[in-house]
Amino acid sequence: MKSLGVLLSGRGSNFVAIADSIDAGRIPNARIAVVISNKADAPGVATARERGLTTLVIPSKGRTREEHDRELAGALTQHNVDLVCLAGYMRLLSPWFVRQFPQRVLNIHPSLLPAFPGLEAQQQAFAYGVKVSGCTVHFVDEELDHGAIIVQKIVPVLDSDDEHTLAARILEQEHVAYTEAINVVLGGRYELRGRRLKTTQGQPL
Ligand code: GRF
Repeated sequence: MKSLGVLLSGRGSNFVAIADSIDAGRIPNARIAVVISNKADAPGVATARERGLTTLVIPSKGRTREEHDRELAGALTQHNVDLVCLAGYMRLLSPWFVRQFPQRVLNIHPSLLPAFPGLEAQQQAFAYGVKVSGCTVHFVDEELDHGAIIVQKIVPVLDSDDEHTLAARILEQEHVAYTEAINVVLGGRYELRGRRLKTTQGQPL
């Protein structure tokens, strides 16, 4: 049984999608050991509590990045977390933190990276006039929205779209992509050569 730690700062729909996938057996042999937020009032924290999951609030405000990340890493280790899933975690993790969990921290971003990193990626893509966008699940490295890509999903931009309808269709794909990526990583069904991740058949999950 593998243990996931989910970090979030807001709504938590990606967290819910992961939790639903586990409950439905789409992510076999896994559990969410802990949900951690840097924001006490994040709606995702309330949802995690309602679902009976262990939740922790580790506030980041007014603390150095190092102090905060040390507490965070300690909590994840204490809960024997095998894989850390960032799900709308709006805080940059320090290089020190990333080194504690090599190839063990995933992030989801609502664009086809390397296009449109950073905040409001869907709005950036829409304003740029792209004809396709999508989402990316990637390993976290020391740079923002940068690590090796695990899964991408393409979402066409329709003439009838505005930035909100586009963001909503991207979000649907995010929920599918995160489950796929977690299965690839937990199943060990990949080889990483530089930035290039090749999925392999490996052992059945
Ligand atoms: C998602 O769009 C995700 O890609 C980005 O932050 C948003 C979080 O949404 N990193 P939610 O809190 O999972 O609903």
